[in-house]
Amino acid sequence: MVWKIGLIGFGNVGQGFIRILAKKKEELKRRYGFEYKVLAVSDPIKGNAYSDDGLDLNQILRLLDEKGNIRNYPGYKKFDSIQLAREMDIDIVVEATPTNLETGEPGLSHIRNALESGRHVATSNKGPIALAYRELVSIAEKKNVILRFEGTVMSGTPALNLARESLAGCDILDVEGILNGTTNFILTEMEKGSSYEKALKKAQEMGYAETDPTADVEGWDAAVKTVIIANTLMNGNITIKDVEREGITKIALEDVKNALKNNMRIKLLACIHRENNKVKVSVKPTEIPLDHPLANVMDVLNAITFTTDNLGKVTLIGPGAGRIETGQAILTDVLYIHRILSG
Ligand code: HSE
Repeated sequence: MVWKIGLIGFGNVGQGFIRILAKKKEELKRRYGFEYKVLAVSDPIKGNAYSDDGLDLNQILRLLDEKGNIRNYPGYKKFDSIQLAREMDIDIVVEATPTNLETGEPGLSHIRNALESGRHVATSNKGPIALAYRELVSIAEKKNVILRFEGTVMSGTPALNLARESLAGCDILDVEGILNGTTNFILTEMEKGSSYEKALKKAQEMGYAETDPTADVEGWDAAVKTVIIANTLMNGNITIKDVEREGITKIALEDVKNALKNNMRIKLLACIHRENNKVKVSVKPTEIPLDHPLANVMDVLNAITFTTDNLGKVTLIGPGAGRIETGQAILTDVLYIHRILSG
């Protein structure tokens, strides 16, 4: 079958996904038997594009590079993102709008509408998964469709898939990690002598930071990822309010340097562990010794250590943010849907 894909959100992640799809079209067909048509793209700033035959992805990307929007794509058709999610003849809705940690919107409505109307969903949007995971899974089960969200934690580095698939049968007892790329990048740059402001600006230019970077530097982004891990992998039922959270905005250049003098390094450390049958979660700047496995995870890299019953500690290190990196997460979700449903 040729999968009909609709993309909502054409920012960093959406563009990364489309760039990979365009580049690997033949390879995806040859290696996985995966064929696709992207029927529609919808973005409130970049504009909408639609084609019954499938959009010409190279043309869309060219338009975007040259004009900064896709409004002049030929064959204009008026539609909105909810129509894309619920009414168009689409098999997989990719939801890649910016994360809203308070309401989950507009992503939550897109995902609800897509699942309710029988479409599979692949998303990198953290808000909806952190706020409404149980509800969304129950709609997906009722409608017999698949919901995947690998890109919500550690971008394309397969933290969730590792735990869900490769560690199947293990109990995850404890998790420790560096889960935000922007803050890890800023702390690394500060160690090299850069100011906090300059490092943040660079992280924004590289496409690492959230649309509102307060979410990164105040620890909200890492906190929401701990909620997703706790609820989707450890059977927790927590909200972001349950996370003991502190960001990196109070860390000065001297703090970073002083820690190093003592053979320590400051990291924004996320911890999730069980205590009396409850999942306890924290995200805070923590001095860790240089010989700690997470101490040498630098730049935009993230890392996660799962402590399991059957294997002990399993650690995964890889990029935690970026356009192509998160586009890869969406691709892996879409290929999962293809693999499961094409036997
Ligand atoms: N802003 C996030 C980060 C992007 O820096 O890790 C990936 O979730």
